[in-house]
Amino acid sequence: MTQSALPVAQSGTFSIGGDLPVHRLGYGVMQLPGPGVWGPPRDHDEAIRVLRRVVELGVNLIDTADSYGPFVADQLLREALHPYPEGLVIATKVGFTRQGPGRWVAVGRPEYLRQQVELNLRHLGVDRLDLLQLHRIDPTVPLEDQVGELADLRDEGKIRHIGLSEVPVDQIEAARKVAPVVSVQNRYNLADRAASDVLDHCEREGIAFIPWFPLATGQLAGEGSPLATIAARKGVSPSQLALAWLLHRSRVILPIPGTSSVAHLEDNVAAAEVSLIDDEMAALTDAAG
Ligand SMILES: NC(=O)c1ccc[n+]([C@@H]2O[C@H](COP(=O)([O-])OP(=O)(O)OC[C@H]3O[C@@H](n4cnc5c(N)ncnc54)[C@H](OP(=O)(O)O)[C@@H]3O)[C@@H](O)[C@H]2O)c1
Repeated sequence: MTQSALPVAQSGTFSIGGDLPVHRLGYGVMQLPGPGVWGPPRDHDEAIRVLRRVVELGVNLIDTADSYGPFVADQLLREALHPYPEGLVIATKVGFTRQGPGRWVAVGRPEYLRQQVELNLRHLGVDRLDLLQLHRIDPTVPLEDQVGELADLRDEGKIRHIGLSEVPVDQIEAARKVAPVVSVQNRYNLADRAASDVLDHCEREGIAFIPWFPLATGQLAGEGSPLATIAARKGVSPSQLALAWLLHRSRVILPIPGTSSVAHLEDNVAAAEVSLIDDEMAALTDAAG
């Protein structure tokens, strides 16, 4: 099957930074490491199957981070997919340290960000990181120093594009004074639309908006979902509805649903083919609001 004939192509295309075209429906690897995003996966072989199936289904945007495991997700990616297929964009992040399961502390000192970029390159087995997102802005370090270090790494050819994560509009604009910002990754889903102003800003500026927790960590998926009734009526799964709502919400949205199972992955990717009319968008907004 050609790329354009794959179901995922129905999600549309977005060109990250103007030169990295991806199908808008991606995949996030955070569910693959062990509990609390710490240590090895519960089921290593299924994790490898999931990653290979991601690529077979034509998904060409994968979101990872050095802190997932730490490095467990990157090592799984390398084991499953290296040498990476042409056109696959692996977006990664730096800026979080880990002290144990479920524990995350932002560190944005320039020398640490540089170290983690170097380690990302090594663990993923690449010469350049396509999209490097600053996982959090460390409030104890001037923003200019954090984004400035990433800009230097970009000038050195180690990063292609810079993105941000969990940022308000004023920080996006402060960062853009230092270097071009091509993507913003904030928490956003049908049940949590607090970042709407950031999304609208990204849409106006042509910046990719990558919503994390697109399924509200699973609360919008499965049988207990508030979308279950509408989904049953439409003959799709609740997860597909939650993802289709995001895809219809804005042309700059690139959802990266996470899953540790091939069955859930296939369910999610099929969301690309779900079309919604305005009345359905409104009904979904009410159902989850
Ligand atoms: N920038 C940031 O600060 C940040 C923070 C958090 C996450 N992220 C990124 O965002 C990605 C997505 O977030 P997430 O994975 O935490 O949350 P999510 O995508 O909202 O939900 C994942 C949860 O939903 C379940 N699920 C997925 N598909 C399903 C389906 N079809 N039916 C039923 N259950 C389903 C998964 O369980 P199963 O494994 O059993 O399928 C998992 O528990 C992450 O992978 C990561 O790349 C970024």
